[in-house]
Amino acid sequence: MRLFILGGTGSIGSAVVQASIRRGHEVLALARSDVAAAWLGEAGATPVLGDMAAPEPWALRLPPLDAVIHTACDFSTAMGEIDRRLLAVLLPALATQPKRPRFIYTGGGWLFGATGNNIATESTPFRPLSAFRWMVPNLTRILEAPEVDGIVIHPAMVYAGDGGVFQRLARDAIERDAVRVVESESVRWPLVHSDDLAVLYALALEGAPARSSYIGAAVDGLAIGRIARALARRYGTRRLEPQVIPANAIVAELGEWARGYALDQQLSGAKARRALGWAPKHLDPEGEIAGLP
Ligand SMILES: NC(=O)c1ccc[n+]([C@@H]2O[C@H](COP(=O)([O-])OP(=O)(O)OC[C@H]3O[C@@H](n4cnc5c(N)ncnc54)[C@H](OP(=O)(O)O)[C@@H]3O)[C@@H](O)[C@H]2O)c1
Repeated sequence: MRLFILGGTGSIGSAVVQASIRRGHEVLALARSDVAAAWLGEAGATPVLGDMAAPEPWALRLPPLDAVIHTACDFSTAMGEIDRRLLAVLLPALATQPKRPRFIYTGGGWLFGATGNNIATESTPFRPLSAFRWMVPNLTRILEAPEVDGIVIHPAMVYAGDGGVFQRLARDAIERDAVRVVESESVRWPLVHSDDLAVLYALALEGAPARSSYIGAAVDGLAIGRIARALARRYGTRRLEPQVIPANAIVAELGEWARGYALDQQLSGAKARRALGWAPKHLDPEGEIAGLP
């Protein structure tokens, strides 16, 4: 298939670009800088120069496509408005494609709010974190769009080794006396390795019906204190015990969206396993951290 990927240099998108190319798809990807274009070119994709926040110049000139995969976001306070405008331009442009393309939209686990001891599934009602409330109408727009066959994937917290969502914690482990965790060490994060998540995108691309949604969680929920301790052990941090900080402290550092780090969540990836045959391989993030070179 010929795919157009937005966010192809990001934590999720870069894995999706690489997996898609490995599976024999032709990949075009939006690049807003020369650095992004160079990375995409080296990965085997064709960069399309342009900015998600100003879609007209590139969206109206896309070649025939089988699918669009949207994993782009700038995490600014304008991210909701940027995404809304992007869809307002891109969807009518896709309506002129010779064949109706598939469109995979990236939602997120934080749309389900704190679940505590319950395990959220695709049919659990949304209780979005306020910074990502905009995603609900946008993903609904995709699922109901007449212009495309819309599919939504809700990734769990995405890691790779000590990167992705573990990167901030790993930096603490190297640079500070203790790894900082938000609100409590017992806050659970649902987790997925970026390589496993990329396979889920590919399976959805190749086989999911229009209007379907999937949670991409390989591990339902793991207490963040265990990850913090694994990183502290790996890097020989002075204190093994994590330092607990309030959510407001991480919000002040990173922005309102970072309040999601305090959500105690469990998510189920059972539907993706059952319906698409997804079989994530990375099920032991702590073990992977211990085994890092
Ligand atoms: N990572 C997670 O754990 C996770 C979990 C659930 C849901 N999500 C959702 O998944 C989406 C992607 O997350 P991520 O972690 O992969 O983000 P990321 O690593 O920060 O990557 C963001 C991507 O978007 C691109 N981008 C940002 N602003 C752009 C613009 N104006 N024009 C063109 N490209 C632009 C970036 O390109 P540059 O290389 O040029 O910066 C990059 O490729 C977000 O909506 C996020 O909420 C993420």
